[in-house]
Amino acid sequence: MYNPTVIDHFKNPRNVGSLPDPDGQGYAENSVCGDATTLYLRVTEGRIAEAKFRTFGCAAAIAASSALTEMLKGRSIDEALRIRKEDVAGVLGGLPPTKLHCSILAEDAVRAAVDDYRKRQSGT
Ligand code: FES
Repeated sequence: MYNPTVIDHFKNPRNVGSLPDPDGQGYAENSVCGDATTLYLRVTEGRIAEAKFRTFGCAAAIAASSALTEMLKGRSIDEALRIRKEDVAGVLGGLPPTKLHCSILAEDAVRAAVDDYRKRQSGT
């Protein structure tokens, strides 16, 4: 069902965990299945220096979160916001059609984390 890249990210997820005092933290949940991701960002001089995640979910959601954290490193905040679920699935070499929706958790988590980052920056 899954290609070797997805299986690798699922079995050996990159950047699992949390960051103490993150610059941005975002939570996203799939209301249909209940799977959820929390994404933590460290931002240095406007670029994402570190990204970690905790995902409670299916293999595709975990693989997507893992790939996402690798994609985020070095990107500006605006560049991070342009990441779409199709981009994450593309980095994974594709997801089965019935699992494509699982990568939306990654896209939603980025938006939530960036929102949080911007709120912290503005002091609100
Ligand atoms: S089945 Fe819920 S995110 Fe994959």
